[in-house]
Amino acid sequence: MLKDSDRIFTNLYGMYDRSLAGAKARGAWDGTADLIGKGRDWIVQEMKDSGLRGRGGAGFPTGLKWSFMPKESDGRPAYLVVNADESEPGTCKDREIMRHDPHTLIEGCLIASFAMNAHVCYIYIRGEYIREREALQAAIDAAYDDGLLGPNAAGSGWDFDLYVAHGAGAYICGEETALLESLEGKKGMPRMKPPFPAGAGLYGCPTTVNNVESIAVVPTILRRGASWFAGFGRPNNAGTKLFAISGHVNRPCVVEEEMSITFRELIDRHCGGIRGGWDNLKAVIPGGSSVPLLPGRIMQDEAIMDFDWLREQKSGLGTAAVIVMDQSTDVIKAIWRLAAFYKHESCGQCTPCREGTGWMMRVMERLVKGDAEPAEIDMLLDVTKQVEGHTICALGDAAAWPIQGLIRHFRHEIEDRIAHKRGGRIAAE
Ligand SMILES: Cc1cc2nc3c(=O)[nH]c(=O)nc-3n(C[C@H](O)[C@H](O)[C@H](O)COP(=O)(O)O)c2cc1C
Ligand code: SF4
Repeated sequence: MLKDSDRIFTNLYGMYDRSLAGAKARGAWDGTADLIGKGRDWIVQEMKDSGLRGRGGAGFPTGLKWSFMPKESDGRPAYLVVNADESEPGTCKDREIMRHDPHTLIEGCLIASFAMNAHVCYIYIRGEYIREREALQAAIDAAYDDGLLGPNAAGSGWDFDLYVAHGAGAYICGEETALLESLEGKKGMPRMKPPFPAGAGLYGCPTTVNNVESIAVVPTILRRGASWFAGFGRPNNAGTKLFAISGHVNRPCVVEEEMSITFRELIDRHCGGIRGGWDNLKAVIPGGSSVPLLPGRIMQDEAIMDFDWLREQKSGLGTAAVIVMDQSTDVIKAIWRLAAFYKHESCGQCTPCREGTGWMMRVMERLVKGDAEPAEIDMLLDVTKQVEGHTICALGDAAAWPIQGLIRHFRHEIEDRIAHKRGGRIAAE
């Protein structure tokens, strides 16, 4: 279990002083200018050595991503954009950083921007996060008043401005290129890649987009050293990580833990166990709504909560939003609900996603009632394969994967329901 002294987020629950003075007393903004004084190459190398993989869902190595930014400007400015859109169902970790521990993020923005030659950083925050935006803005204002932001930020010699941009509440604006479009004042529609943001991002300038948690852990990693961070978790799955556990556990929570903790320990230690006991566990979505669910028997026996183990099971760590479902859950209905979400959030730009999400949702609707031909299960699976990998952005994949997971692990339940319906019994409301 992660020791308190190894926690990066020391005020995750807002129990202590949230002011700048309180954050400083807990170690924030300690020696920031010295860290910046070590130079760009040192910072990027430390981030590479730490093994940090992006916390926004895809797990791309953070130091490597930073190294794609041009070392010298060709006249264009560079930007850091922090993705605080956090709209993936089940995911509620970045909000705790922004409202309770915002200086981890603000200091991280300064250091990361310096490392990428950016004098300006934008934090793009989800439309529904109004109190979070207020808390974050208040913390930014306090940092400006204290000389930590602005000209010669924190005495580092680097001029730096930090702005908060408030979204309007669209899930697709969390996709990094849709986010950039939205920041530019356009409709939030994903761009074709390449070019990638490091080549042409915000206003056509070199840009890096990182998740809130990815940036907020930077100052502590640099202060305590890459090897300290790399010491947690299995190889290639380094660090501490915020897990957001919801659903049928006794005490849902957001908690910072060591990567590669077992599912059982995570739930028993921090959530008071599964509602009704471990035998009552039916299924788990381990990484936010986009990743395929896994059956309880796989999760309770051996599950390791990290990128590689969950990938081997054909699921993923995603945002580490763990949604727990007990035996009372109608899993078909649960996945139908996600299908409806993705249909609603599709931006409509590409045909497989625009048409496919509606098609998948409608078949799922009938499967919930058992009102289908058995052959339609394979037809549905086939449609998910036609959507997956054939769209501009990963929303198409995100819509396909939960259904694939359902068919892979709970096909019998779908078949039973169809059979019951045909036998004249109604298995679902
Ligand atoms: C439909 C969709 C929604 C996304 N929503 C978010 C989000 O809310 N927050 C986030 O950090 N990343 C989100 N992402 C991932 C981003 O595109 C991007 O990979 C991420 O911000 C990179 O940050 P990281 O490297 O620090 O993980 C989303 C991706 C897709 C396809
Ligand atoms: S996959 Fe869907 S959300 Fe993404 S660009 Fe295409 S239509 Fe829009």
